[in-house]
Amino acid sequence: MMTQESAWLTDEARREAKAAARTMWGLGDYHRFATELVWGFGPELVAACGISAGQRVLDVAAGTGNVAIRAAEAGAEVVASDLTPANLEAGAREACARGIELEWVEADAEALPFGDAEFDVVTSAAGVIFAPDHQAVADELLRVCRPGGTIGMINFTPEGLAAEFFDLFGRYAPPPPPGALPPVLWGSESHVRELLGDRVASLELTRKQAVEKLGGGPSDYCAFYKATFGPVVALYGLLADEPGRLGALDREFLEFATRANLGEPEGPVEYHYEYLLVVARKRM
Ligand SMILES: C[S@@+](CC[C@H](N)C(=O)[O-])C[C@H]1O[C@@H](n2cnc3c(N)ncnc32)[C@H](O)[C@@H]1O
Repeated sequence: MMTQESAWLTDEARREAKAAARTMWGLGDYHRFATELVWGFGPELVAACGISAGQRVLDVAAGTGNVAIRAAEAGAEVVASDLTPANLEAGAREACARGIELEWVEADAEALPFGDAEFDVVTSAAGVIFAPDHQAVADELLRVCRPGGTIGMINFTPEGLAAEFFDLFGRYAPPPPPGALPPVLWGSESHVRELLGDRVASLELTRKQAVEKLGGGPSDYCAFYKATFGPVVALYGLLADEPGRLGALDREFLEFATRANLGEPEGPVEYHYEYLLVVARKRM
């Protein structure tokens, strides 16, 4: 089926967009970012999907194995896939240090290199939301999941703090590829229902809050993002020759981090990001 994005992009433009995304997500230190700020997503999805020994699990846009490593620790046979080799390599080192085994596969969420119905559970935590073609992703998650199997996702919502964060950085970043949908749309219940359609027998959608906590003040929070989070590192690099815009971004980022901080005045800083926990059972 022709997707919206593939209809609008030439193959070469599509390859370039993927290469740019791969480079961007490989900048900074995603593993440090994940373990310090969002490492709770892994156990949450493992519990929500009931992942247990003997199941075959695919984690898509796995990063450095937030969900995948925890699923393997629960005894499942796990494949972690991601667009970005640097993240997979950091994840493999973490798994090795923990003495667990899983498979690491470089893959685009819009075109997964796996067979139909290969997995009992398919997960993605704040991962596939970043692929531009949402319908292609939904079709792939459903295709590789067996009938009766589970699909679990953690998706930031359009009404939550992540939307403000992406909006701020989006105003300074180059435009996304034509046809790309915003990541936070995956946090809208109606969008998820539409993407999965009648191919799921049940769909549980629960809004929750992820709390990012970090020692120090708002400027330390900004500095942490600027050092570790690939898309932010990439944007600061791109604006290096434009001191006016760089300074404006810096001021806006600090203003955001100051305004949104819910921590005590002495710190640590605390940010509440709303997300949609999705647990779907594929129709038999
Ligand atoms: C915010 S990180 C989340 C990683 C991990 N799931 C976690 O919970 O820490 C987003 C990840 O999505 C990956 N990604 C972005 N676009 C992708 C795509 N089209 N296909 C597969 N992975 C993609 C990035 O490489 C990055 O590792």
